[in-house]
Amino acid sequence: MLPARKPLLTARQIQDRVLELGRQITQDYQGRQLVILGVLNGAFIFAADLCRAIALDLEIDFIRVASYGAATVSSGTVRLLQKPGIDLTGKDVLLVEDIVDTGATMAWLQNHFRQSPARSVRICSLIDKKERRTAEVEVDYTGFDLDRGFLVGYGLDSAEHYRNLPAIYALDED
Ligand code: IMP
Ligand code: MG
Repeated sequence: MLPARKPLLTARQIQDRVLELGRQITQDYQGRQLVILGVLNGAFIFAADLCRAIALDLEIDFIRVASYGAATVSSGTVRLLQKPGIDLTGKDVLLVEDIVDTGATMAWLQNHFRQSPARSVRICSLIDKKERRTAEVEVDYTGFDLDRGFLVGYGLDSAEHYRNLPAIYALDED
């Protein structure tokens, strides 16, 4: 069942880092109208934990983009399949993602929401994986930096499997 014997990031390490991110976001968004937009499906667990680590009155919703399917490389084509149901006018949007890889998805989403009536748009990603970055995108809040590898667990999947694992594992790609 487990993709590897030893986790790359333990549940405890993830939990500690999520609490730190929550504290930082709580400080930065004092007096603002924060809207968390989690990107489905990968960010469902991270967004659930992160929003409970933020001590502010906030709104939370989820969006869905066209995904890779079972492939492991981004097509570069992004489509918004599910839009937010919240009015973003004058609000501070925080896009919450599981992992930024090529950056294509987040670059597109950031640009898309910057054209909305939102006051600001920032990105929070649990993992920032830089090796395959092709799109220009700056991650404002990063949980963990990673050079390479394909990760599963804590919301991250391989063809929809392993999302429920409480820790994060590197998947053997051979
Ligand atoms: P990007 O557009 O290439 O940045 O794609 C980001 C999306 O690819 C993430 O939201 C994930 O769904 C998926 N992805 C990229 N790397 C991994 C990984 O290591 N494990 C699981 N999913 C990944
Ligand atoms: Mg994803």
